[in-house]
Amino acid sequence: MSALAASLLEKIKTRRARTGVVGLGYVGLPLAVELGKAGFHASGIDLDARKIQAIQEGRSYIPDVATADVKALRDAGKLDATTDFAVVRELDTINICVPTPLRKTKDPDMSYIVSAVEAIAKYLHPGILVCLESTTYPGTTDEVVQPLLEATGLKAGKDFFLAFSPERVDPGNPTFQTHNVPKVVGGLTPQCVELASALYGSAIETIVPVSSTRVAEMVKLLENTFRAVNIGLVNELALMCDRMNIDVWEVVDAAKTKPFGFMAFYPGPGLGGHCIPIDPFYLSWKAKQSGFDPRFIELAGHINGGMPHYVVDKVAEALNTKRKAINGSKVLIAGVAYKRDIDDMRESPALDVMGLLHGRGAQVSYIDPYVPEVHGREWSGRFDIKAVEVGRGGFGAYDCVVVITDHKVFDYDAMVAEADLVVDTRNAIKRAADNVFRLGAPRPEGEKALA
Ligand SMILES: NC(=O)c1ccc[n+]([C@@H]2O[C@H](COP(=O)([O-])OP(=O)(O)OC[C@H]3O[C@@H](n4cnc5c(N)ncnc54)[C@H](O)[C@@H]3O)[C@@H](O)[C@H]2O)c1
Repeated sequence: MSALAASLLEKIKTRRARTGVVGLGYVGLPLAVELGKAGFHASGIDLDARKIQAIQEGRSYIPDVATADVKALRDAGKLDATTDFAVVRELDTINICVPTPLRKTKDPDMSYIVSAVEAIAKYLHPGILVCLESTTYPGTTDEVVQPLLEATGLKAGKDFFLAFSPERVDPGNPTFQTHNVPKVVGGLTPQCVELASALYGSAIETIVPVSSTRVAEMVKLLENTFRAVNIGLVNELALMCDRMNIDVWEVVDAAKTKPFGFMAFYPGPGLGGHCIPIDPFYLSWKAKQSGFDPRFIELAGHINGGMPHYVVDKVAEALNTKRKAINGSKVLIAGVAYKRDIDDMRESPALDVMGLLHGRGAQVSYIDPYVPEVHGREWSGRFDIKAVEVGRGGFGAYDCVVVITDHKVFDYDAMVAEADLVVDTRNAIKRAADNVFRLGAPRPEGEKALA
């Protein structure tokens, strides 16, 4: 091991290493807090001054991070935050957790990574370890990050160290959080992987070293593509079950009693969140550059992307049983976050369903205790829409209630008792009722009689 590497390893082991995290969102803030808890000093860097101010005031803005933890680390002098990359001069390690969205054309948008790395490069110094965590296509670390950093004249693997370690955080999961989810680590050289493993191993229980940054990048894309494809499969099964009058939810629940060789995935109104709808397209974009046509990813994207249209058809079918049209009907969307009990609505299928219903003339409102407002730029209705409060006695005011996100706090009994019609895309309402139309399940008895 080189003297530079040995010195950094020693600093990591003794917790004297000064750590840094760029991008203090759902991934970066929990990581900075874990590094602080592990005994390091952690400096957060973000362009969003409100996040910096919150941390300076000892406040968390991420539901999975307790304000008490941020405050304790602030009080102990273990955590600070800034918008100024000059702090990189003082750092021994830096983790990059900035967004990796898609462009409208479904091509990777690398601009956040490029701009963060260029800002780090200005203050790059010998002996620093740079770890990329943002989900991205295989080759990003050595094709994009390495040349930008080496433009400084310093050489990766010799003067500074470079690694990729994908983040696997599952927002809202009370059992698995940053510290107890095994962390895959790939380095540019064996020294790089050893140093990055030592850093993560200080804060995270299990480290899984792999042979290269490209393998580590591909691991994350396999995991997320696996989910996207299996959700696509079960969504297609739901469409089949709908046609064949079979209950897909009952099928999946019975299938999952098989103790081996099966893993349950559930259908729904479409994909949501910052990962599953996006990451597989990073892989397909890269694969196409090698002349490979990734069919599973495209097919799953096609099926999953069609689900909001199917939900709207289901709403039309439900309204039809009451001789009503979507046009002019009052439709209440229950839940706009992309999954249960969280406040994140990035890529949420609720936005598509709302847009499609609005486009067909429905008067759309929504309830969601976690999302007070949907801004005009976030959906195709193009106007700001605030959450309404509908308690017991209020559901009867709507022609149809559409459950998009099965938040636990919703009063499903009141919904079924009061609403004229309920379209349930999550199997939130477990019992059969004449006014409830479930995705991928037989029609209610009353509707059969009407037909
Ligand atoms: N959220 C998840 O559940 C999750 C899970 C696994 C992996 N990831 C991946 O982790 C990465 C980050 O995701 P996230 O959910 O934390 O995003 P986020 O939007 O919550 O946070 C990103 C932060 O980076 C900041 N930022 C953007 N450009 C910057 C720059 N140039 N310099 C400094 N700060 C900058 C933003 O202000 C924001 O605070 C993405 O690649 C994502 O795919 C996310």
